[in-house]
Amino acid sequence: MIHPRPLLGEPTAPDRPFLAINMVATVDGRAALNGSAVGIGSTTDHRLLFELRAEADVVLHGAGTVRADPLSARVPSDLVAQRTARGLTPQPIGAIATRTGNLPPRHPYYESPTLIYVCSDRPVPVDLPTVEILRVGGVREVVCDLARRGVRRVLCEGGPTLNSALFREQLIDEVFLTIAPKLLGGEDPLTVIRGPRFPTMLRLQLRSLVEVDGELFLRYAVTYPL
Ligand SMILES: NC(=O)c1ccc[n+]([C@@H]2O[C@H](COP(=O)([O-])OP(=O)(O)OC[C@H]3O[C@@H](n4cnc5c(N)ncnc54)[C@H](OP(=O)(O)O)[C@@H]3O)[C@@H](O)[C@H]2O)c1
Repeated sequence: MIHPRPLLGEPTAPDRPFLAINMVATVDGRAALNGSAVGIGSTTDHRLLFELRAEADVVLHGAGTVRADPLSARVPSDLVAQRTARGLTPQPIGAIATRTGNLPPRHPYYESPTLIYVCSDRPVPVDLPTVEILRVGGVREVVCDLARRGVRRVLCEGGPTLNSALFREQLIDEVFLTIAPKLLGGEDPLTVIRGPRFPTMLRLQLRSLVEVDGELFLRYAVTYPL
């Protein structure tokens, strides 16, 4: 088993859920290969991703990741019973943050209930009974809205631009990072955070480290300056 359970913690403030990010990178820090994260992590990493989802009320993605990767917010059928036994919905709610509203009108993502948070007044070309479109001012409003809906645990699976905004708003409680035993090289690499440099370096506290077949599974708590 990778990392002690539970994987996701309790909310630390009444107005926002517990929020963890889960990312994978090569040893040289690359978070994408030809514009996609597919092919970096192993099947063990994918299983951890699903087990994290299995504890989450909501799985959050940036629109760039939805456009780049063939993904949804769902768990495989063998984890549905585990969710319902914990009092969770059979599938996590999916949530997508966008400014441009540039999302596909149809996508496997929308097969589960989906919240699209739009940080602008731009139109969104999605009109489906499973999808709710919400207008917000930024990522803090996203997580506050989720808290108002009774959401207690959010798993954010990136991407790097959304991670940056969440860190800058001090909304990330824990970081799950997989280091795949691979090197990609290249110039101007995408890493797991993309955006303006933080005003102060953030400190991480190692909670757990597991090695499986040379792949490192790290779990950190985030410390923010007062
Ligand atoms: N290695 C990994 O674990 C991992 C995980 C996820 C993604 N990735 C990779 O990351 C790449 C995509 O990077 P990315 O930085 O573009 O991903 P991203 O953060 O998912 O997408 C960026 C887009 O998300 C929306 N967004 C982000 N922050 C926002 C905010 N504060 N408010 C409102 N909307 C916000 C915007 O969408 P609009 O453009 O629609 O306005 C923005 O352009 C892909 O290659 C993907 O494969 C890697």
